[in-house]
Amino acid sequence: MTSTLEKIQSVKYEHDKLIILDQTKLPMETFYTKLDTIEDVWDAIFHLKVRGAPAIGIAAAYGLYIAARDIESDNYEEFCMKLKKHSSYLASSRPTAVNLFWALNRMEARAMECRDKSVSEIKVILLTEAHNIRNEDEAMCIAIGENGLKLLANGMTVLTHCNAGGLATAQYGTALAPLYLAKDRGWDIKVYADETRPLLQGARLTTWELSRSGVDVTLICDNMAAMVMKKGIIDAVIVGCDRVAANGDTANKIGTYGLAVLAKAHNIPFYIAGPTSTIDLKTLRGEDIPIEERHEDEITCAFGKRTAPEGIKVYNPAFDVTPHQLITAIITEKGIVTAPFDEGLKGLFE
Ligand code: MRU
Repeated sequence: MTSTLEKIQSVKYEHDKLIILDQTKLPMETFYTKLDTIEDVWDAIFHLKVRGAPAIGIAAAYGLYIAARDIESDNYEEFCMKLKKHSSYLASSRPTAVNLFWALNRMEARAMECRDKSVSEIKVILLTEAHNIRNEDEAMCIAIGENGLKLLANGMTVLTHCNAGGLATAQYGTALAPLYLAKDRGWDIKVYADETRPLLQGARLTTWELSRSGVDVTLICDNMAAMVMKKGIIDAVIVGCDRVAANGDTANKIGTYGLAVLAKAHNIPFYIAGPTSTIDLKTLRGEDIPIEERHEDEITCAFGKRTAPEGIKVYNPAFDVTPHQLITAIITEKGIVTAPFDEGLKGLFE
């Protein structure tokens, strides 16, 4: 895609080892860690060391390969039974991003197609499948970047939420891909990044990766977005997605829905960017998307220091759903979908 931009590979498989960039340590430390077991992979996904819907799917695919590699049976039926068990275990790490289930299902399906092969051959095939999932994601991000660019223009200022960049994918990102591409083509593009309470993916990750590629980025607190929009500074909002339902309702990081309401109120286009692996036609409406609720400490403590009274009641959903009526367009690697979203999304798979 680019020659001048800093490349980030948050999940890589090198010398028969799964290595991730531990995103919980960014931006203070760029620390790569090796995941040797399926339990390591589960833990890394659960604790957001690897995060962002596509990156979670890629890590899970490699995690399932690692588990498959260590299965000590040459019997096909027994191998598949154990593989399914491992897949269900990995699937329990986080509920909302559909890429996790998509990647695991794809790995399982690959094994099921190989009844005529030996178990050792299937293990090799599964590693190739995990590589394919990773490589296809990179290609999808590049295509999303190209499609997203059609909706932007030189000189624009864009607002984004959470992190849907290279860290969250194989490379380049989804919502951030058009911005990298714009930068690479010499456009003057400015980005406002919401800090994204409570885990600060915007402050810690989005500003880190954009600034190291020389993209002009300004950090704001989530509650400043309305004011910034009112000033007339923002030309478009672009965010990623964790699951797009068949009708276009979209789950993304908590706070996305609020931004969409604000964008509507200020007459600013609101774009969702994501690969087709994040579109879940089996989930009909946003209400059917399972929303992860995380530990209260994420809200009651900041940087190891308590910031709320002991024993206070806490509600901590990690995602919200933006109704499709608030979405201007969904940018995918196969094209840009606008209303009616149900028809457009279905058309991507035909
Ligand atoms: O909880 P996280 O950090 O995994 O949430 C990530 C997001 O909400 C992203 O916007 C989404 O996964 C898209 S990443 C290309």
